[in-house]
Amino acid sequence: MNDTCHLYTDLAWLWPMWGDATTEYAHYCRHVTELIRRYAKRPARALLDIGCGGGKNVLNLKREFDVTGVDLSSVMLAQARELNPECTFIQGDMRAFKLDNTFDAVLMDDAISYMRCLADFAAAFRTACAHLNPGGVLVATPDVTTETFQQNKTCATPATRDGVDVVFIENAYDPDPSDEQYETTILYLIRDHGRLRIEADHWTMGIFSLDTWRRILRETGFDVHEGQYNADEDEYTMFTCVKTG
Ligand SMILES: C[S@@+](CC[C@H](N)C(=O)[O-])C[C@H]1O[C@@H](n2cnc3c(N)ncnc32)[C@H](O)[C@@H]1O
Repeated sequence: MNDTCHLYTDLAWLWPMWGDATTEYAHYCRHVTELIRRYAKRPARALLDIGCGGGKNVLNLKREFDVTGVDLSSVMLAQARELNPECTFIQGDMRAFKLDNTFDAVLMDDAISYMRCLADFAAAFRTACAHLNPGGVLVATPDVTTETFQQNKTCATPATRDGVDVVFIENAYDPDPSDEQYETTILYLIRDHGRLRIEADHWTMGIFSLDTWRRILRETGFDVHEGQYNADEDEYTMFTCVKTG
């Protein structure tokens, strides 16, 4: 099956319904802020959110930082701007973009999962490092690693807004555990005032071991600190990486 990209283009209007920016994202962002404050070797004021999507993390981080967001999707960036008109948003590909300024902190959240080979994965971290001031901190959170991946894991999340009922059904499947990729398939059951429409996305994503994360981050030029973060029933490893030199 070929990859699609509805959620970040024609179905991006569904994104605000999937996960509440003021509760689950707020909890995660408080943890991100604590890690930055704990490990940064310089005052942390300017933060770059790479793969900022619809700006839900930005909404929470802008209380503590001057935030700039970068994302590949112009539609997601438009949402992020509407939610955070006082912040700066720029379109770019995390493997290659070059901004004129540097930052005290960088967040690389779930968007890193779209790096589907080791070369892209390493390139994204080089981009993060190039945009950090010395002593600044990158916080990176793998959605999954080879250690945490659960074959055929499926979650259904219902949501309602303005007469539209949606169910997001998300499935993770790895047809070949020996390579660096897995598949995410999402079904969207959309009932607009009761009328059902079914849409789907299918993505090839990257998956790497914790040891690969550690190695690539060190080779990029970071001192790497590791900790755990719990959200609902899931536990995540978070890497807090200080730029040396
Ligand atoms: C799940 S969304 C991120 C949501 C975000 N954490 C928030 O706070 O709303 C994933 C984002 O990754 C972006 N993305 C995927 N590949 C990318 C790339 N190569 N460079 C930059 N952004 C990318 C997508 O456009 C999408 O907006």
